[in-house]
Amino acid sequence: MPHENDSTINELISQMTPEEKIGQLNQFSASPDLHPDLLRQGGLGSLLNASGALTGQGFSDSGNAEISNHFQKLALESRLKIPLIFGRDVIHGFRTVFPIPLAQAASFNPELAGEAASVAAREASACGIKWTFAPMLDIARDPRWGRVAEGNGEDPYLGSQIAVATVKGFQGDDYAAPDKIIACAKHYVGYGASEGGRDYENGEISEPTLRDVYLPPFFAAVKAGVGTIMSAFIDLNGMPATADRRLLTDVLRGEWGFDGFVVSDWESVRELTYHGIAEDDAHAARLALHAGLDMDMVSGVYLNTLGESLQQGKLSAVELDEAVCRILRIKQRAGLFEQPFTDPAREARDTLRPEDRELARQFARESMVLLKNEGSLLPLQGFQRILVAGNFIHARSELFGAWTPDGRAEDVTPFDEALRQLAPKGTELWFTEAPDMALHMAHQVDAVVLVVGEHPIRSGENCNVSDLGLPPGQAEFVEAVVSLGKPVVLVVFAGRPLAITRQLAQADAVLYAWHPGSEGAAALGELLFGQASPSGRLPITMPRATGQVPIYYNSKNSGRPINRDALFRTRYQDLIPKPLLPFGYGLTYTNFEYANLKVSQETLRGSLEVSAEISNTGSRAGVEVVQLYVRDLVGSLTRPIRELKGFQRTELQSGETRRVSFTLREEDLAFTRADGTWGVESGKFHVWIAQDSQCGLQGEFRL
Ligand code: NOJ
Repeated sequence: MPHENDSTINELISQMTPEEKIGQLNQFSASPDLHPDLLRQGGLGSLLNASGALTGQGFSDSGNAEISNHFQKLALESRLKIPLIFGRDVIHGFRTVFPIPLAQAASFNPELAGEAASVAAREASACGIKWTFAPMLDIARDPRWGRVAEGNGEDPYLGSQIAVATVKGFQGDDYAAPDKIIACAKHYVGYGASEGGRDYENGEISEPTLRDVYLPPFFAAVKAGVGTIMSAFIDLNGMPATADRRLLTDVLRGEWGFDGFVVSDWESVRELTYHGIAEDDAHAARLALHAGLDMDMVSGVYLNTLGESLQQGKLSAVELDEAVCRILRIKQRAGLFEQPFTDPAREARDTLRPEDRELARQFARESMVLLKNEGSLLPLQGFQRILVAGNFIHARSELFGAWTPDGRAEDVTPFDEALRQLAPKGTELWFTEAPDMALHMAHQVDAVVLVVGEHPIRSGENCNVSDLGLPPGQAEFVEAVVSLGKPVVLVVFAGRPLAITRQLAQADAVLYAWHPGSEGAAALGELLFGQASPSGRLPITMPRATGQVPIYYNSKNSGRPINRDALFRTRYQDLIPKPLLPFGYGLTYTNFEYANLKVSQETLRGSLEVSAEISNTGSRAGVEVVQLYVRDLVGSLTRPIRELKGFQRTELQSGETRRVSFTLREEDLAFTRADGTWGVESGKFHVWIAQDSQCGLQGEFRL
């Protein structure tokens, strides 16, 4: 495929020695042991963690940009003066920390995700970082997996919308702009299907499910122009993703036209020997390069072995040049040849701006999901004395969630302080972290806010759990407080949907706060006291029990579905055959009613309109996330019982009614058919406009 400026790149490649070419394919983590000569000889193409907190640089007097500039200077002393590209995990914010990605998905507001990515890009680039290892686009159907926190949940449509928005947010229209950074869609692909929710474990995904569920967010990112892709640790269907030529080359480049570069995950090239598909490092490096894996993250096996393989004629010189070309192409697009250094003055100017903190607060507010509100206990009004108890009340950095090396505790207002600022005049707030104190104090108050859930170290990479219940001791604490008979609001911090079946029944109100980031405490306070209303929706099914996972809304019907009135239907002996709460679920402080569904035509030709009237029948304004689902009733392969095809956040005043309309196009109904091709099949479809994935007004059309 011809490219805008590949002639300059090819000219550069023609001057490179094999060592210099191989050098470009390596990324090392910056450390005091890194020998400057490696950079001076052009032995590295990229450094990660060269700037940002906790780099271990020993340059403590230097600002972040000075550290990366220092390394860049060394690289530019090399013969061909090829700049380094500096990478880092800028996952859900940098210094300003936004809610975890799973919470961002709960906002059903991709635009905000894009704005947050744009803030992260500005802050990170001010520190010399030009490349983030985000967005993580792994679909996850098993919340035991710790990395469910880092992705957008279980749905490919929602995941794709967020993929596009975040890629654009990080990269802008032109990531050569000083305040933009290159995105990296990861982990390609199928990483979320690790068996048993155990990180790094193998997985099996059928080809239709891979194409219809796991690949779409990556495809969307590629179409949005993502510059790089990271391969997954997983052994998928017997082929480790880092060596999968079919997926890395045939699908990604051949079918989709991706022209950026692919980086491995940490050490995953060397790990091909542990997977047992490579006999030694040299073999692993050859397999990965041949598969289309351009840059080796930290394992050093490209650096140490590709030269010899080339000499021995075991490596294709053309494939080597292709990998170099793809890396240099992205460096060129990033403007690094013209602008290799970062202005150190930017960091102070571009970090933690008040408007960015406000955005973080808005995002946190929109990401929290109200799961129950019996007797309209929330917002808390008219209570004279409220006890706020639990282990997160003084939390600061614990509000960030997984993967936030650059967030700082001192930037966070803890929950107790935030509540004091936001409580209505005359409301007395009592706080305690200790369960026994809480039980003592609860007798003397009018209402209790119990704050429970997961510490961030319980989610994220390799932080898997075998039990989706609350962490040890918390269920007993909730039970003991609830038994005192006071109105109880349960606030849950978590990096995953927890199976809080008992607590949902016990508490009067439940607000799911995830890990909400720098401004999470204030956002939560605003929701509790009614300065704002909840509008988040579950981006992933909430299971009733751990043994119920994987459970997800877009499953297949089976021959004996749960709604058939028969003994021999799919179920557990000991559980209701339904999730605790479905995908798309979430309450507000008002009520919405749906009426008068209209499907514009009986037969879809090209496209049709589906609409319904949504009324706010409560006494407060509120935001409804109106959702569009379809079901293809008969296919050459079995089809999901529902698939999300659209959503609209719709703000309605009390008493207001509005017709909300969606356009459904023929291509929205395409899937991987029995013959392996992708396209539509004619027949009958059901369509819903719904509040969540289990309810709604139903219509139908034909294709
Ligand atoms: C390993 C993780 O799997 C990946 O998501 C991350 O970007 C890299 N380490 C770099 O830190």
